[in-house]
Amino acid sequence: MLVGSGGREHALAWAFSASPLVSKLYCAPGNAGMANIAECVPIDAMALERLAAFAKEKRIDFAVIGPEGPLVAGLADILEAAGIRTFGPSAAAAVLEGSKGYVKDLCAEYGIPTAAYKRCASAAEAKAYARTQSLPLVVKADGLAAGKGVVIAETVAEVDAAIESMFGGTFGAAGEELVIEEFMVGEEASFFALTDGVNILPLAGAQDHKRVFDGDKGPNTGGMGAYSPAPVLTPDIQQEIVSRIVQPTVDAMRRRGTPYIGVLYAGLMITAQGPKLIEYNCRFGDPECQVLVLRLKSDLLPALIAARDRLLDTVDLRWHDDVAITVVMAARGYPGTYSKGTEIRGLDQAGEIEGVEIFHAGTEARGGRILATGGRVLNVCATGIDIGEARARAYEAVARIDWPEGFCRSDIGWRAVARGLA
Ligand code: AMP
Ligand code: GLY
Repeated sequence: MLVGSGGREHALAWAFSASPLVSKLYCAPGNAGMANIAECVPIDAMALERLAAFAKEKRIDFAVIGPEGPLVAGLADILEAAGIRTFGPSAAAAVLEGSKGYVKDLCAEYGIPTAAYKRCASAAEAKAYARTQSLPLVVKADGLAAGKGVVIAETVAEVDAAIESMFGGTFGAAGEELVIEEFMVGEEASFFALTDGVNILPLAGAQDHKRVFDGDKGPNTGGMGAYSPAPVLTPDIQQEIVSRIVQPTVDAMRRRGTPYIGVLYAGLMITAQGPKLIEYNCRFGDPECQVLVLRLKSDLLPALIAARDRLLDTVDLRWHDDVAITVVMAARGYPGTYSKGTEIRGLDQAGEIEGVEIFHAGTEARGGRILATGGRVLNVCATGIDIGEARARAYEAVARIDWPEGFCRSDIGWRAVARGLA
């Protein structure tokens, strides 16, 4: 059973459906793309008790939880308590995504490189601290805010406005405490590792594009595209990320009695002083997961099972040398307001292009038609021998998709392209 309904979950479902270990795959709630390769059941990812009841009724052998919401709310604990073997951290360990302040304190205690910071429980305290620091400053709501709880403030007035807005309830309970951070300069990258609480199996690196428009302009989104590998993550830097950031975190969580078991997603800034942690997520990245699974030669599922069974040291994963890219097609207006229910055509023709795989992120099938139901709607993915080939294939597929109400960025992968030309 796979929990979730986004592009990340379609990509995972695609990987699982190719595994010889799987005789039946349920997705809750899934989407129109996942319905082609699995049985979708209409249970919301946050309906924790209903998911557990369903898993028991169907005697699910293994559950994988995609999104952070149910993980932070304790779905892994509930499923395990019901006797369902589950991949995904406990609520106590998912605090690595659920509380930014918790992570900052952990970094301070173990010397993990990250931005200087202060946790603040009141607006007065936050404003006073901000006045002792140089600008720009980063203001973050402590809890889950769907990627929207971060403000990079260039002036004291912007800092104050962010502080007031967060304590004023813009992010509900997530904003009852906030973190003020030093602004780090560098190139961002995402790094993923499986862990069973003791052992660490690094996966691969990726870069995503968080801003909505070309040239990394406009508001932040959940991610408008991604590619893997990330050229900035050289083997040396990856080793440093594991030894200085991921390993001490996994060790600390185990020592604290809340071992982290699952996939740990480290959002990093590669600075002149080396890699520094921006934040942790307790799940695969979306859309980074889509490019990771396309580059994975080995079956992913046995690795997830081994992590759950504390046997990760027995696993070895093989990767394709190919580059993978994903271009997100979103509904016009995203990340603001957008219309739902518009029809998408041409997906079959687009999917015929060599190396192309299309994952659905926010779709619904109705009467043989595919309708857009979300902000991020499609992940048009492609592999190729280099970023140029992968990118050309993905954008050729985008051109074949007939969806006037959708849009995408036209420059996904620009950093990798720029490096290739340098
Ligand atoms: P987060 O939700 O913590 O990943 O933050 C969202 C985005 O804000 C990140 O992807 C970065 O682009 C940016 N950001 C967050 N913290 C910092 C920081 N301390 N310095 C520079 N940029 C940051
Ligand atoms: N792509 C960013 C995220 O999954 O949080």
